[in-house]
Amino acid sequence: MKYEVIDTDVLVVGAGGAGCRAAIEASNHNVQVMVITKDILGKAHTVMAEGGINAALGNSDPRDSWESHGYDTVSGGAWLNDQELVEILVKHAPERVLELEEFGALFSRTPDGKIAQRPFGKQSFPRACYAADRSGHEIMVTLVDEMRRRDIEVHDEVYATSLLTDGSAIAGVTALDIRRGNFRVYRAKATIMAAGGAGRIYEITTNAQADVGSGYAMAYKAGAELVDMEQYQFHPTGVAFPESARGMLVTEGVRGEGGILLNKFGERFMKRYHPDMMELAGRDQVSRAIATEILEGRGTEHGAVYLDVSFLPSSLIEEVLPTMLHDFLDFGVDIRNEPMEVTPTAHHYMGGIKINAKCETNLKGLYAAGEVAGGVHGGNRLGGNALADNLVFGAIAGESAAAHALSNGMPRLDRKQIEAEYERVFAPLERRDGVRQSQLKRRLAKLMWDKVGIFRNGQDMRSALDEIVLMRTKDEPRIFTENKSTRYNMELVGALEISDMLLVSEILTRAALMREESRGAHYRTDFPKPNHEKWFVNIYVKRDGGEMKLYTKPVVITRWKPPWMEKSS
Ligand code: FUM
Repeated sequence: MKYEVIDTDVLVVGAGGAGCRAAIEASNHNVQVMVITKDILGKAHTVMAEGGINAALGNSDPRDSWESHGYDTVSGGAWLNDQELVEILVKHAPERVLELEEFGALFSRTPDGKIAQRPFGKQSFPRACYAADRSGHEIMVTLVDEMRRRDIEVHDEVYATSLLTDGSAIAGVTALDIRRGNFRVYRAKATIMAAGGAGRIYEITTNAQADVGSGYAMAYKAGAELVDMEQYQFHPTGVAFPESARGMLVTEGVRGEGGILLNKFGERFMKRYHPDMMELAGRDQVSRAIATEILEGRGTEHGAVYLDVSFLPSSLIEEVLPTMLHDFLDFGVDIRNEPMEVTPTAHHYMGGIKINAKCETNLKGLYAAGEVAGGVHGGNRLGGNALADNLVFGAIAGESAAAHALSNGMPRLDRKQIEAEYERVFAPLERRDGVRQSQLKRRLAKLMWDKVGIFRNGQDMRSALDEIVLMRTKDEPRIFTENKSTRYNMELVGALEISDMLLVSEILTRAALMREESRGAHYRTDFPKPNHEKWFVNIYVKRDGGEMKLYTKPVVITRWKPPWMEKSS
């Protein structure tokens, strides 16, 4: 067994918006910072938040305030949110957006030169600050530039495979250097998990190939507490056609600019579901409405509905939706003259690693930020809040981790843990035949989409769970690779990925089975209503004595009281 040990004060796992912002913040504190990313720097799901970043700047409507942003976030989140985290999010978001400008970000402007803000779903005021329809891209480019200016060390194409512990604290991670095929140990005084989401567990998704849920899997295996893992967001509008682009994001900015949804009969169907907010209802609500239209036979031949902006001035589309215009021109559709075909697509995990106001987890030395962390968004994330979350909690995680590193020594490494992980990582190379990771991935993604998707029920989920458990116990140990090289072996990477995906899918399904009601994005046809008496709780998942334990805790209300409680008090 050969491996290299690389030491650093603060290790950031993941280089999306949260990871990059965490690294920048940590670098302000006189500690050595290192970032590892499975992808290459700059390529992250963060770019898929195209439509904007929420901050109550009040540029489009001076009545906006952090209180209003907070209320929208919690009511839009079906009241499951951690309100302490929400308050931090909405109070810090303006500062983080203005700081982006100082780092060099170029936002679209209002006629009087302020950062432009557009309406997004379930928000009381136009609040999403945008750079046309490539806001996430602008933010990633800006953060990457800032990291380069600070000379922050980044290791590309390095897959973190497990968290190491030294008995009392997290000691860093083991990792596969994909390019060279080497096994590495990154030892760190503080580790920030910012590894993003898990959209690839679903067949139709906006998520990049890299988003397989490794952060949740690593944290869970190390004993971290996860929260709200049943709550997965399906973005209402993904590309429906051509097949090769199915699931790709069609930004909420299209509806923010006035785009309307129509079924195949030309009916603006949102008036039957949410006549008050129409296309700008919550994402959970719009996704269910679209899925219902399709399921009940009012969808197009491509299993979609229409999203139309052709009545808007062409000049506006060209100015504020240029990415959409060009993407659809590639698909043979000119959105200035004809509608897009759209369908819901898996987009964002609301659930994740439980953090407190300092981004600390229950494991000493482990911090989390961004999509991999849970609690901020409750049962449904507002469009535009992911970018704000990345920056706000990325910065807090960076600061907390740096403080931890400054007051703690280098942890001890446990050779036994490293050996066990080394064997697990390279085991598929040793097998001559068995199961292919690519087949398992396809099976799992279809299963999750069909049985633990937008509409769920106990029977389907129990059968999905049985199959996932079988895949974990019978198939996963038999995964083999045709390619026996360790260098750039994407079959080997796939084998690691499916292991993480199966674990996350099991956690998601068990939590979804436990919640016998409908709330936020978790909709059960066998329990179609919320049950505030029994289920106004967060579901937690934790590994305990080798077992997956699920338990509940009441939702803590610190500021925003749900309407059913207002009535009773
Ligand atoms: O629709 C979008 O532009 C996505 C934004 C987000 O997920 O926050």
